[in-house]
Amino acid sequence: MASSYAKTYAGWKADPEGFWSGAAAAIDWFKTPAKTFDGERGVYGRWFPDGETNTCFNCVDRHVAAGRGDQAALIYDSPVTGQKRSYTYREVLTQVEGVAAVLLGLGVDRGDRVIIYMPMVPEAVFAMLACARIGAVHSVVFGGFAANELATRIDDCRAKVVISASCGVEPGRIVAYKPLLDAAIELAAHKPEHCLILQRPELSAAMSAGRDIDFADAVTEVLTEGTVVPCVSLGATEPLYILYTSGTTGQPKGVLRDNGGHMVALAWSMQHFYGARPGEVFWAASDIGWVVGHSYIVYGPLLNGSTTVLYEGKPVGTPDAGAYWRVIEEHGVRVLFTAPTAFRAIRKDDPSGSLIAGYDLSSLRALFLAGERADPDTLQWAEQVLLVPVIDHWWQTESGWPMAGNPLGLGLLPVKHGSPTVPLPGYEIHVLDDAGHAVAAGALGNIAVKLPLPPGCLPSFWNADERFRSACLAEFPGYYKTSDAGFIDEDGYLFIMSRTDDIINVAGHRLSTGAMEEVCASHPDVAECAVIGIADAVKGQVPAGFLVLNSGVSRESSMIEREVVALVRDRIGPVAAFKLAICVKRLPKTRSGKILRGTMQKIADGQEWKMPATIDDPAILEEIESALAGRHLPV
Ligand code: COA
Ligand code: AMP
Repeated sequence: MASSYAKTYAGWKADPEGFWSGAAAAIDWFKTPAKTFDGERGVYGRWFPDGETNTCFNCVDRHVAAGRGDQAALIYDSPVTGQKRSYTYREVLTQVEGVAAVLLGLGVDRGDRVIIYMPMVPEAVFAMLACARIGAVHSVVFGGFAANELATRIDDCRAKVVISASCGVEPGRIVAYKPLLDAAIELAAHKPEHCLILQRPELSAAMSAGRDIDFADAVTEVLTEGTVVPCVSLGATEPLYILYTSGTTGQPKGVLRDNGGHMVALAWSMQHFYGARPGEVFWAASDIGWVVGHSYIVYGPLLNGSTTVLYEGKPVGTPDAGAYWRVIEEHGVRVLFTAPTAFRAIRKDDPSGSLIAGYDLSSLRALFLAGERADPDTLQWAEQVLLVPVIDHWWQTESGWPMAGNPLGLGLLPVKHGSPTVPLPGYEIHVLDDAGHAVAAGALGNIAVKLPLPPGCLPSFWNADERFRSACLAEFPGYYKTSDAGFIDEDGYLFIMSRTDDIINVAGHRLSTGAMEEVCASHPDVAECAVIGIADAVKGQVPAGFLVLNSGVSRESSMIEREVVALVRDRIGPVAAFKLAICVKRLPKTRSGKILRGTMQKIADGQEWKMPATIDDPAILEEIESALAGRHLPV
């Protein structure tokens, strides 16, 4: 099929409002928007400003009403607990109404914030949809974050209720969530009124009288009473959720998502980008704690009337590198979406892809990769073993849906390995030099998106318009700064090469080295430090911390290194994968005192490096090289 991409993109560019008002027809509105865009509202404008709708209604109720009630909406597949369960759209509706009734009973009102700190269990999805149903604003916090990170989020959004579980189940280890939640509430200045706790059979949590409520008991009670909870009619611009993501400081940014524009963009992407049809099985192998999970485990597939898979397991080790193939065969997955790191892990355990032979993957139409750069080697390996199109696409928490990719739904364009292909409708992407001037084709620069951002993208940060302006819009007036660097070639293909800030990508998880430095520096024996991302064969990057100790510290440096590793795990969480801390005498700096992180990274990765002309003392780079010897092998 010839691709209709060029025509579609040109159509959007010629009439953006016409394009999005057409796309809005895929959504059921309680009040159809008369206006598509209002450039005077919000930080850079707002989409569908006078429309009224409800995201839960569009994800669940309307499908039941339209005859999809008996179709599977959600398949829960959990190799770590040995459980599999399927919920029809009708069953999801019942469960969601149950949670919504419990929240209403706890006094949760439209606009109140609810934190969801849960593992990959169906109740987490029901909780998200229940919030959407009553107009509460959810903020899902990834389970791999520590108490301190959870506390920051409780304080920032002033959560009225926290929904959590007794534990998460990681391969070989039960992660007790409740003590982390209790510690977070202890640390937080703002105290949530109630916690709804899902007791899992793997570990029972102690409950605090007066504050904690048993999730299952509460839901069963309201369902027995037969409570019906209607969907609240919400303004399209009212918030659906806040998702915190790493910024350049220890303070995470609360990315805000609205109801109307978000649905319009996701519904468009499901059909025209992912080529996923209603009734088909769509599997995003991610976690609901990340934006991929929000958009393509929960909201996108359900808006589309697809069946979504909620997988509580890993690509390897649960039980082996054939786990993904089993899920594809067993549930008839048509479209798979995951991060390249998952395929690097599978390939490491099964280099020839031999386990695939044991499964029937004929249902699979395509594999989509995002979350980090898809290195051509991994991408080509996936193509060879799966024999379906493997599509790299680029986006971020802030955008909420793909900014660039090869649109399967519109017809694929020729592939260039290493490129996520072309900008999608809604995104006019430019590469700018540091002064904000467009660079020539092929030249590296800052990747920026011309304002206004399309529907689905963040309208602002939660309660922090000024931070949004200064972090994302101020540097290049008229553009949104993505903080990614790259280039566009002569054919209009985009290449994403690196971040322009301190963010690193560890196993597809976005983490701030600045935040890790804050933790390292808080150790009483550390005078100064630098954390950099170094290459890792499976995770893409992992952090490495270089520590300069206070003069006069006589304790064993290996002991301090272990303490710093434990401190980062304790303050940020295991997800940071911070396992390498090295004491050094000095850090390499420019004469103006800037730490030469880029050069340190090249040394660690075994890449060629040049002595920076501005270096203060060249001998320090040799010290770094010898400190790394025996501690880290370049990939
Ligand atoms: N709750 C508690 N702890 C968690 C957790 C959760 N929900 N998720 C991860 N962790 C812990 C892990 O147990 C691990 O702890 P450890 O240091 O004690 O081993 C640590 O956080 C790092 O986890 P992870 O990044 O998952 O690394 P891993 O070594 O366990 O697995 C991969 C590596 C590549 C298999 C894994 O990252 C993966 O499956 N990635 C798939 C892609 C993906 O999910 N991307 C997200 C964005 S699309
Ligand atoms: P997150 O907000 O966690 O989704 O992370 C977004 C960041 O991940 C982007 O800004 C990029 O730096 C990186 N990223 C995501 N997808 C890709 C991709 N396909 N290619 C290169 N980098 C990517």
